[in-house]
Amino acid sequence: MASVRGSYINGQEVTADQTYPVTHKYTGAVLADVTEATPALMDEAVRGAEDAFRHPLSVPQRVTILERAAEILGRDQERIARLIAQEAGKPIKDARVEVQRGQQTLRYSAVAARTLRGLEIPVRGNPGSENRLAFTVRKPYGVVLAITPFNFPLNLVLHKVGPALAAGNTVVLKPAPATPLTALALAGVLAEAGLPPGYLQVVTGASPEVGARLVADPRVRLITFTGSAAVGQTIRAQAGLRPVLLELGNNSANIVHEDADLDRAAKTLAIRAFGFAGQVCISVQRIYVHRAVYQPFLDRLTEAVSQLVVGDPEDEATDVGPMITEAAAERAFDWYQESLRQGARAVIPGMREGSLVHPGLLVDVAPSMRVMAEEVFAPIAGVVPYDEFKQALAWANESRYGLQAGVFTHNLELAWQAVQTLEVGGVILNDSSSYRADNMPYGGVKDSGIGREGPEFAIEEMTYPTVAVFNLPAGP
Ligand code: SIN
Repeated sequence: MASVRGSYINGQEVTADQTYPVTHKYTGAVLADVTEATPALMDEAVRGAEDAFRHPLSVPQRVTILERAAEILGRDQERIARLIAQEAGKPIKDARVEVQRGQQTLRYSAVAARTLRGLEIPVRGNPGSENRLAFTVRKPYGVVLAITPFNFPLNLVLHKVGPALAAGNTVVLKPAPATPLTALALAGVLAEAGLPPGYLQVVTGASPEVGARLVADPRVRLITFTGSAAVGQTIRAQAGLRPVLLELGNNSANIVHEDADLDRAAKTLAIRAFGFAGQVCISVQRIYVHRAVYQPFLDRLTEAVSQLVVGDPEDEATDVGPMITEAAAERAFDWYQESLRQGARAVIPGMREGSLVHPGLLVDVAPSMRVMAEEVFAPIAGVVPYDEFKQALAWANESRYGLQAGVFTHNLELAWQAVQTLEVGGVILNDSSSYRADNMPYGGVKDSGIGREGPEFAIEEMTYPTVAVFNLPAGP
């Protein structure tokens, strides 16, 4: 029988009568029956976080806890990576990288805690202010609600929890219904690292009412969410005047110019479009290739994609595991088939077996097709030839999203033009749109969201400035 897991409230797992099964995304085996949080339990979670906020940890205490948690994650890497592979369906080799990245995010959060600073404001130049000293201090908001996605059940949780704790906030975490076990494991790691009860509460549940109820709770002072644009917009509408950080979707454009290293571009784009079944917000989706190198590039890309291994995420060789649910796979495969009916041609034909979607590489795609216009979040990508670099930039910008883009060129002028022109939060040169280092500012424009992650940037978002003005005795 599967174990029953609770929400993590005030340092203890608390169960409720109603549970839902969390499954192994490849075998379908039930990993645990997880508590569906009741209103009383959610109330207790927020109350406990509010109480904890009234007893702030010192900065050195926060730093020690975050650094110690990074060490514990290193010690427990294999256990946590296996959990990620099982409950998220992420290939084990990528799951291990996620744990290593989680360590980095914790360490950068510790640095952010140490270095958070205000600013002296030069008011003395104003007549009547000659003897005043003004500076800002950054203060935590209070209870932060973090609503996190399934695709990086450790590291995207840490990108919210790390900077929030570093800033002196307390956190109520609502993990994705599909991947609560990694979040619970993280709560255990932070507790072992010395985080006292109440500073991180994990509220589990599969019902949309859980998130909605927490968002509606006025004791929550800031909401940070990663997920779909539609849900992000709903949260923003419900948040009223409270600050909201949103990291939403993308249909990432990648440009391969005629001077690019085609071997490198093809190998990189193949794994970054299809690896982890394309379930990354910055996965390669739209590939624009200069006509002069279109065919040789396409040949290389086709070869690289055909070598990807699809299957069991716990197998060391696997590149493309299952999608998170069969419904998600069905939706993605419908879009793929729709594009074929609309005139696209598959150079690598996609295929679906339950929640497993085999890579589908398309050409003759049109911008209006959903596989191009919307965030596909699946192992499906389209390739389009262009004649002018400017044209490729314009097509890349023809999107309601703007998170990251990749550009392969050695021409500095064109690279600079791309940085200046592309309406995105990150332009990655000679690598794919899906490059991310955990200390980078990460976030988008347009429907890709509001605010930036990366501990040094997120800690600014998760604090507010108070200006202190000292009226000093007149000097000599
Ligand atoms: C995301 O899916 O937005 C996260 C990508 C990453 O952290 O690599």
